Amino acid sequence: MSLLTHPNARELSKTVRATVLVFKDPRSQELLNRIERLAPSEANALIIGETGTGKELVARQIHNLSRRSQANFVAVNCGAFPETLVESELFGHEKGAFTGATQNKAGWFEAANGGTLFLDEIGDLPLGMQVKLLRVLQEREVVRLGSRTPIPINVRLVAATNINLADAVVAGNFREDLFYRLHVATIRLPPLRERPGDILPLTEFFVAEHCRRLGYSSAQLSPEAERKLLAHNWPGNIRELENAIHHALLVCRQQLIQPGDLHLVEMSAAVRQEIQALPAAGGDLESALISLFEKNLDNLFDHIEEQVFRTAYQFCHGNQLQTGRLLGISRNIVRARLEKIGELPPIGGYPAKVE
Ligand SMILES: Nc1ncnc2c1ncn2[C@@H]1O[C@H](COP(=O)(O)OP(=O)(O)OP(=O)(O)O)[C@@H](O)[C@H]1O
Ligand SMILES: [Mg+2]
Repeated sequence: MSLLTHPNARELSKTVRATVLVFKDPRSQELLNRIERLAPSEANALIIGETGTGKELVARQIHNLSRRSQANFVAVNCGAFPETLVESELFGHEKGAFTGATQNKAGWFEAANGGTLFLDEIGDLPLGMQVKLLRVLQEREVVRLGSRTPIPINVRLVAATNINLADAVVAGNFREDLFYRLHVATIRLPPLRERPGDILPLTEFFVAEHCRRLGYSSAQLSPEAERKLLAHNWPGNIRELENAIHHALLVCRQQLIQPGDLHLVEMSAAVRQEIQALPAAGGDLESALISLFEKNLDNLFDHIEEQVFRTAYQFCHGNQLQTGRLLGISRNIVRARLEKIGELPPIGGYPAKVE
């Protein structure tokens, strides 16, 4: 089996590419059963889960347990490309199809032919691409950009999302027909806080794995450190746990992890702190809002929302994807708001920025 990974290999070097899956909590075991039953079928699947819950790992597992396991598993992050490049990345292009297309190139669908295509962050796919994806799924063929010849495709699609696609459909950011097409077999990965029975087994797994990588013979956790892990609410899920263990191993003494070695941040508390710290930066949010309310402005909410998007977009140097990450919403929503407030360049106006 050959393996093609994320085009933006963020964190891959730091992350354990687990071949072992830890599924100890009863909820996880139920999930594993479902995965094992679904995998051998040819049905497309949709994996839904918060960030760091193991969506990509589960997608690989589905592939490994399927009849396609000897063929390619291709993982693509739909949010990793500027809109202008998504189409040629997915479906390929012919030489001369656009400026810079100096040779024929197969897209990800062709690369995954016979195997499994994992489309991560499917909610970030621009609406125009959603139409094209739906057509490919229906017709089972792709047409490269700049070509007229359809190429037959035999690909199983596994998509993943960390946003609620049903909400995105209601908001007009995700096509309903594509949603139903993907929704045939869904796998919900519960957040780590809802499967506490996995916390210590995963910890043991990551301790062993990172000890091996760091060249340590072994390491232990004190009972207090274990209690701290069990009490945390894990907004970043399994990835957060892995990073916490990795860090603790680097700072602990005598191969014994103590509570102080575990740097766990409560997301909500962190955000609260930031807002409370605002007066030091020259004025706080609450009094700014109150003075706005006192001015009795029209469409106040629209103005505030507009300012939030404008400022965030500038803060991220005009990067829609990062703006979405910053605000914790999908790029589709960011794009729609930026269009509404006239922040977006005309289509085809500026050259595409490759991330
Ligand atoms: N059940 C598990 N057993 C062992 N390791 C796991 C398990 N689930 C996840 N991991 C590990 O946790 C990390 C995060 O998993 P993964 O990248 O699959 O999450 P994700 O849901 O795709 O995250 P994101 O939404 O950020 O893309 C990876 O290093 C993965 O190997
Ligand atoms: Mg992922």
